[in-house]
Amino acid sequence: MLNRSLVALSLTLVAALAASGCSGDDDGPEVVVYNAQHEQLLEELAPKFEKETGIKVELRNGSDSELAAQLMQEGDASPADVFLTENTPAMSAVERAGLFAPLEAKATDPIPPQYRPTSGLWTGFVARSTVLVYNPSLISADALPASIMDLADPEYAGKVSFSPTGADFQAIVAAVLDLEGEDATRQWLQGLKTNGTTYDGNNVVLEAVNSGESAIGIEYHYYWYRDQAESGENSDDSELYFFGNQDPGAFLSISGAGVLEGADHPEEAQRFVEFLTSEEGQKALADSYALEYPLNPVASLGADVKPFSELQPPTVAISDLDGDKVVDLLTEAGFL
Ligand SMILES: [Fe+2]
Repeated sequence: MLNRSLVALSLTLVAALAASGCSGDDDGPEVVVYNAQHEQLLEELAPKFEKETGIKVELRNGSDSELAAQLMQEGDASPADVFLTENTPAMSAVERAGLFAPLEAKATDPIPPQYRPTSGLWTGFVARSTVLVYNPSLISADALPASIMDLADPEYAGKVSFSPTGADFQAIVAAVLDLEGEDATRQWLQGLKTNGTTYDGNNVVLEAVNSGESAIGIEYHYYWYRDQAESGENSDDSELYFFGNQDPGAFLSISGAGVLEGADHPEEAQRFVEFLTSEEGQKALADSYALEYPLNPVASLGADVKPFSELQPPTVAISDLDGDKVVDLLTEAGFL
């Protein structure tokens, strides 16, 4: 009886120590990363950083909005040292809450200035292009719209799919809002509500288009390229379409990285962001499964992916995306 409760007690202690991040006698330097970028990408990059620096990375994964809300709730008491997002609206929200510490120049200098805020409080580290994925057996390439705004027109009724609950689609709406204004965005969303079918997740959108359930999907480029690189199972019967021409549909969504003001491991956190933007980190990113565009010009994706220089994105100031307003508009349109 006594033995059993001792075992139970020590198991509880082990669990408590593990939960607190304390690993007993091999307590080396570490960095706690709240990660809203794709989990698999960071699981590829973190070991490279650990090997180079001897700093252990603890990843706590969630979505852009979940982790931003958690940081704002935890404030200075947060265990987070670094925040990584898929898209910029969540970075701007955490910046507005005053939770970021300035990044060192070593971390920001390798990234061209249009991909980081002038505040210096965080930086972009990877970019993703908005695209249409379409099923050529249901719609021919020449019937695709010149602008993403046209998808609200009656001719696309029953043809469009997207995932409005996700941070990726919400960033696209934020770009439309920034470029076209509130009234046009409201009308566009109403048109999409009439014309569209919604799914939960961008891979599900890709599957729906590929299987012929939907003619057109709105998402980012890498979902299709990753599937092609893996098996092609969910993409072989579909094609990609890039709007280009500075259209809102050519919006380039930037993933952000920042160090928290209340970080318990501020030096390790700076090192981690510095690694992400460095030549080594950006080349590792380019060579990873992710197929997202590195932003440090020393690194680039392989020849199979449309070159970054050919994307012709619209100019959207990186700090201008208003995630809260987008949630209001999506709620008003009945998507959330
Ligand atoms: Fe994504």
